[in-house]
Amino acid sequence: MTEVAHIAVIEERIERLLEQMTLEEKVGQLTLASGGGGHIPEWLDEGIRRGRTGAVLNEVDVDTVNELQRRAVEESRLGIPLLIGRDVIHGFRTVFPIPLGQAATWNPELVERGARVAALEASRCGINWTFAPMLDIGRDPRWGRVAETFGEDPHLSSVLGAAMVRGFQGGELDADGSIAACAKHFAGYGASESGKDYNSTNIPENELRNVHLRPFKAALDAGVCSLMTSFSDLDGVPASANEFLLDQVLRREWDFDGFVVSDWDSISQLQAHGLTENDRESAYEAARAGVDMEMASTTYAHHLPQLVTEGRISEEKVDGMVRNVLRTKLRLGLFERPYVDPESFPDWGNPTYLADALETARQSIVMLRNRDETLPLKPHELSSLAVIGPMADEPYEQLGTWIFDGDPELSQTPLSAIREALHGEVEVRYERGLETTRSRTRDGFPAALDAARAADVVVLVLGEESILSGEAHCRADITLPGAQAALLDEVASLGKPVILVIMAGRALAVEALPDSVAAILYAWHPGTMGGPAISDILTGVVSPSGRLPVSLPRVGGQIPIYYAHKNTGRPPTPETFVHIDDIDPGAPQVSIGNTSFHLDVHPSPAYPFGFGLTYGDVHYRSVSCPEPRITPGSSLEVIIEVANEGQWDVEEVVQIYIRDLVGSVTRPVRELVAFRRVSLEAGEVRHLRFDIDAKELAFYGRDMKRKAEPGRFHLWVGGHAGSTLQTEFELLP
Ligand code: NOJ
Repeated sequence: MTEVAHIAVIEERIERLLEQMTLEEKVGQLTLASGGGGHIPEWLDEGIRRGRTGAVLNEVDVDTVNELQRRAVEESRLGIPLLIGRDVIHGFRTVFPIPLGQAATWNPELVERGARVAALEASRCGINWTFAPMLDIGRDPRWGRVAETFGEDPHLSSVLGAAMVRGFQGGELDADGSIAACAKHFAGYGASESGKDYNSTNIPENELRNVHLRPFKAALDAGVCSLMTSFSDLDGVPASANEFLLDQVLRREWDFDGFVVSDWDSISQLQAHGLTENDRESAYEAARAGVDMEMASTTYAHHLPQLVTEGRISEEKVDGMVRNVLRTKLRLGLFERPYVDPESFPDWGNPTYLADALETARQSIVMLRNRDETLPLKPHELSSLAVIGPMADEPYEQLGTWIFDGDPELSQTPLSAIREALHGEVEVRYERGLETTRSRTRDGFPAALDAARAADVVVLVLGEESILSGEAHCRADITLPGAQAALLDEVASLGKPVILVIMAGRALAVEALPDSVAAILYAWHPGTMGGPAISDILTGVVSPSGRLPVSLPRVGGQIPIYYAHKNTGRPPTPETFVHIDDIDPGAPQVSIGNTSFHLDVHPSPAYPFGFGLTYGDVHYRSVSCPEPRITPGSSLEVIIEVANEGQWDVEEVVQIYIRDLVGSVTRPVRELVAFRRVSLEAGEVRHLRFDIDAKELAFYGRDMKRKAEPGRFHLWVGGHAGSTLQTEFELLP
């Protein structure tokens, strides 16, 4: 059947169903109930049999899921199968790095593969819908949910978000192992004030469109089946009642034909926001704005039928909402195969899945520092190594946030992996130093320091336990928690080479890390295979190749700090920046610098977006655009010469940034427009060609229309957002 014929058949089946449905059954399709626990409570049983519940979340027992489907398909009047939803965020049993870590791979193929594995594992339980990818822009590391984002950049988030959608949904939506994806949280959630979860967001429309909405559009273009609204209040109208987002942008401008689900209770919470007086009005506002399905709260079930009979919400409106849901069920092929046979899927945590998780974890680790080539370790020069720290041997904590179904028993920790890698060659002694990353008591310090003293090299594994990031787990102080900084200082003061491995769910402020630390690996929460991934980098099995998906702040007070900021009328320069310590005490009270900076911290981040070292010695030798004047329908050819002058084979992430020099609205000082992970053998020189479509230069201007504006552009090429190799081009009218 052709694509067009297939769509026609689906639409026809929707209409046939709609004709037979009572109003209550229609509203049933818009109701997502929370199940769970491997049993079917009476209320849920009744809801399903009577066609009052169209979807269930959080049930992962396959027999129960099949039984739920049986009651829906065989015992409800119209036999409509259920959507079975679950937060499958970065793996199911096999846990991949947190999304922020996956973003650090800058590798869409790996992100797609990770989502595929997660979909296959989740399918074994009958899950057919996941609440991922999360596409909120993460520019505030205090916000615990930054762990679930792809970082600060709209382009990187768009590319990786689309890859994740493809991974979950597979080549064919109705094939075994394909599950519906859900892009969330629409929209602006990442801008929660002060990085506090559920907080208000105030985003001007131009920034909303140019930054926050971009990854969602990319997910739509990748065919995402559903979207979830945000908990947050956007400029005074909470997202779950925001007609501008849900109707104007999503349906009218973007032609979305999937369905929109609320977040958990976010419709009934319209009352707490102060937008409505009661559940009835909440149901009215959400339905009017365009939320198709309600998660957890029951304002639709209780009030939508009456709102229709009263004429406040038209039945056509409800029909449209139901169509969006049924379309997804039909596309998924649920009517044809509502049941799942777990044995038809590969085992959870099988060697192939673990290998994929290992490769993703390896590529997610960012090497920030490597003084005197401390890394990779040279086992033949070592006799003993100390592994210290509360994150070194924590199978659960290394998995990170949102791991409802993750299996810590599958986890391999850094300690176990290092021991295995150095077995027989180097004596490995372990001391945790601190009970948890939050502990303040220093009772464990003496033993840790003894171990460090006795060792040739110390690997210190610090960071944040899993519970310190994720939903509602925000921090005001984003330095290492507990007494970890003291432990680090004391170990570092022994004069041994110290390799610091940080596992965390966010960008931590790193300026205070002692200078004497020889090497730093930023490993995020690396998932099941975090240990071997870290060990492989430490021992040189692979060169590090991860790149920061966020700028690492020096101190929390710099937040928000991101590379694609605006220039301002008074940008700081090396000449105008004055540090508080350099203010002459005798100088008269005149203003200093008169440019945009803090007096007590350098305006740059500690490490820029895109940054990451390798064991090679990569040089960007030249960049050129053979035809630097392009027209709107064409593309810009960029030729780059890049060389690895080192002794190690590496993977390098080549990045291209532009600046649109003059716009109808001001443009960021730099924007990522293209990137590619390339392999470079020791001594290899490569000539790379990129074609940047002129469409990539488009943005929403003062008239709020998306188009590229003619004029001059700067273009930089390199390994991070601060690279200096530059050329220019021009977009002709
Ligand atoms: C609330 C979270 O905000 C959302 O991301 C998640 O998918 C739902 N709960 C369902 O668990």
